[in-house]
Amino acid sequence: MAHSPLQTPLESRSSGPLVGTVRVPGDKSISHRALILGALAVGESRISGLLEGEDVLNTAKSMQALGAKVERNGDFAWVVQGVGVAGFKEPPIPLDFGNSGTGCRLVMGAVAGCPIAAVFDGDASLRSRPMRRVLDPLALMGARVVAGGDGGRLPLTLQGARDPVPIEYRTPVASAQIKSAVLLAGLSAPGRTTVIEQDASRDHTELMLKHFGAEIVTTAEGLHGRRIVLSGQPELRGAEVVVPADPSSAAFPIVAALIVEGSDLVLSDVMTNPLRTGLFTTLREMGASIEETGRRGDAGEPMAQVRVRASKLRGVEVPPERAPSMIDEYLVLAVAAAFAEGTTVMRGVQELRVKESDRLEATAAMLRVNGVKVEIAGDDLIVEGRGHVPGGGLVATHMDHRIAMSALVMGLASDKPVKVDDTAFIATSFPDFIPMMRRLGAEFS
Ligand code: S3P
Repeated sequence: MAHSPLQTPLESRSSGPLVGTVRVPGDKSISHRALILGALAVGESRISGLLEGEDVLNTAKSMQALGAKVERNGDFAWVVQGVGVAGFKEPPIPLDFGNSGTGCRLVMGAVAGCPIAAVFDGDASLRSRPMRRVLDPLALMGARVVAGGDGGRLPLTLQGARDPVPIEYRTPVASAQIKSAVLLAGLSAPGRTTVIEQDASRDHTELMLKHFGAEIVTTAEGLHGRRIVLSGQPELRGAEVVVPADPSSAAFPIVAALIVEGSDLVLSDVMTNPLRTGLFTTLREMGASIEETGRRGDAGEPMAQVRVRASKLRGVEVPPERAPSMIDEYLVLAVAAAFAEGTTVMRGVQELRVKESDRLEATAAMLRVNGVKVEIAGDDLIVEGRGHVPGGGLVATHMDHRIAMSALVMGLASDKPVKVDDTAFIATSFPDFIPMMRRLGAEFS
């Protein structure tokens, strides 16, 4: 999706209590996967609660270009007619994933298992992100880059395998995107495709593959890892998918409520898959009042109602093995840490360097410009909490939705307002963020 070349800045200022009940949009990871698996299944899939953010809409368009029928038939309700495993046809247009690493890397996996060539591209942020981590295992399965791809970057043309080879692959970093790309390619390979991860990453692909009828078995590997074995060439059948609310989006109103005095918020249907809730664990260790009630589940994904009340926070140490379960939440955790009393040490967060921006540098810059003491020490991020944040800074968002939202949350409780240079990228994951926060009492101008 094209972005306006004009930046849309916004300022956030000290606000009264945030109060109310909201449902943040559907989970981004699950939305991408529902569209992709729907497109690879035989028959019809009905998806409700889909995230209608730019990232996911780009995945929907790529599924159409690959031959699936994808239609919106109501608010957040979509219907997909799939082409079956290995059934993608050669897309007549380049596949443009905009800002989305997940959409791009997962679809690379799905294309790698089909005998077609496809052009992959994205915006300046996505063009700067590493693709070799996915292309390397896909090459072992028989797919190859036939044009572009200089330095392992987009744009590139991927030629899928005529006869994909099942592999056993140990991921070099805990990444659900790498794991999912291999599993999606493995769908069209005969025999078993195995992925081994040293630290477990989010398992939405595995859960959803099972939901669509694939045979996939997960066992523990070492202390924190997993071995996932997929039996190839299943017949995926169209399915119903109810997308729960995104805990990574919920993170912003949650931290806002914790730091704005007197706040009391309820968030409905928040996905509580333990491989996604490292932030909740960490905030509770910091002294946050976060209660979960009414737990239920759909298609293997648990969800609950989450109530959060303003709390006095203290600094903590976050262990490196927790990183995969909160990899997208460190920015907003750093905001909570700045308002806490004491030092917060986030260990082993080097993967932040290859997200929509270099989030390690960007987080440090966001805090520094607002008067917070912060340090990057090797792979660790260290924030000195003083119980309050001076504010008054202008934050550079670097085409990164989560920097924009984190900085706006910070401004709601800082001494002076916090300004962000561009809010446009918030639409990639949380299009309703600004009006929703305003409805709860946030002062943005
Ligand atoms: C995602 C995996 C994570 C995460 C991203 C979504 C997914 O990336 O940062 O926002 O849906 O698989 P990595 O797998 O590269 O860590």
